[in-house]
Amino acid sequence: MKPIETAEDISVLAFGFMASKALFAALHVDVFGALDSGPKTVIELAGATKVPPTRMATLVTALVAVGLLARDGEKITNGPASAQYLVRDGANYFGDYLRFQIDRQMYPFMEHLDKVLVGDSDGVEFATYADWMADKDQAELFSRSQHSGSLGPGAVLAKRMGLGEDATSMLDVGGGSGAFSIMFCKRYPNLQATVLDFPNVIEVGKRFVAEEKMQDRVDFLAADGTTANWPDGQDVVLMSYLFSGVPEQAIPDLCAQAYRVLKPGGLVAVHDFMVGNDRSGPPLAALWQLQHMVYTPDGVGLTPMFVEDALRDAGFEIDQSADLIPGMTQAMVARKPT
Ligand SMILES: C[S@@+](CC[C@H](N)C(=O)[O-])C[C@H]1O[C@@H](n2cnc3c(N)ncnc32)[C@H](O)[C@@H]1O
Repeated sequence: MKPIETAEDISVLAFGFMASKALFAALHVDVFGALDSGPKTVIELAGATKVPPTRMATLVTALVAVGLLARDGEKITNGPASAQYLVRDGANYFGDYLRFQIDRQMYPFMEHLDKVLVGDSDGVEFATYADWMADKDQAELFSRSQHSGSLGPGAVLAKRMGLGEDATSMLDVGGGSGAFSIMFCKRYPNLQATVLDFPNVIEVGKRFVAEEKMQDRVDFLAADGTTANWPDGQDVVLMSYLFSGVPEQAIPDLCAQAYRVLKPGGLVAVHDFMVGNDRSGPPLAALWQLQHMVYTPDGVGLTPMFVEDALRDAGFEIDQSADLIPGMTQAMVARKPT
C-alpha cells in the first residue's frame, strides 16, 4: 500500500466508519431493494423505506458520495456493485453478512479494541468463540449472517478442489451454518458431510440444511473441535475460518487430528483470512485480523507460510495455495501421503 501523504487521506481513514454506517443503515431499511425495480426520487425512496424524506435525502447524499448509489438529476439508482450484491434475495446478495455480523456484532465489539490491545479484559464481553457461541442469540445472529457470506466462497472452493467420485466423506470442523458442506454436497453427489461446531451453532445449521432438504447428506456433531475426538475414515477435512478462531497453540493439534482422521491420499483444506507472507497487506485481511483480535486475543494473524508450515509439520504435502476471496481470504489444500 502506498504511504499516506496528505491530511485529507488521513481524514478519509478516520471518517471511514461513517461510510460503513451509511452502508449498514441503507441495508437495514433496504434502500438497495427499493431501487431494484428502477430509479426513484428521494421522496419515493422515503415512502418505500418509511424514512422521513429529509433524513433519506441526507442518507442518499452520503451513499451517492461514496459510490453506492448514482444520481441523475432527481432520479436515484443503484450503483453497479449495489445492484449486484446488495439487493435482498438477489443471487449474489451478501448484505445480511454485512448488516448483521459486521454491523451488529463486530462493530460494537471494536469498542473494546484499545483495552484488549493492552491486555485489559474488564468489560470485554467474549474472549473465545466458545464463550461467544454459548450465547444463543449471538450464535444465531452470527451463524445466520455467516451463511450469507460463505455460500459463494463454498461453491468456489468446492469446484477448485476437484474431488473424485470416490470421495464420500467430509468432516467440516468449525463448519458453522453448514454453508461449505451444503455447497460441497451439491457439487459432489457421492459426498456425505459432517459439520462439527458448538451446540447453539449446530441448531442454526440444521435449519439451513433442512431448508435445502439435505438432511440425508449433511450431519452434525456438537463438540469443541480443539478437545473432541474427531470421527475418522474421512476423505476430506475442511477447516474454514477455524485457525483464526482458536489460540495459536491449538493449531498444531488441529493439523494432527486432521492427519489422523483422513484416509491415505485424503485432502485437508484450510480457508481463512490471511495477510501476505511479508505482512504488508492486503488491507481488508489486515483490518479483519485486527478486529478479530478483540474476541480472540490469543489467536494469531495468519499468513500462507504459517498455515503451510503447520500442515507440513503434521505430515501433509501442499497441493494448492491461493486466494479465495480476493484481498481477504486464502485457501490451502494439502494431501495426506498414500
Ligand atoms: C467464521 S465461522 C465459519 C463457519 C464456517 N466454517 C464457514 O466458513 O462458513 C467460525 C466457526 O468456527 C466455530 N468454532 C470456533 N472455535 C471452535 C471450536 N473450538 N470448536 C468447534 N467450532 C469452533 C465457530 O463456532 C464458528 O461457527
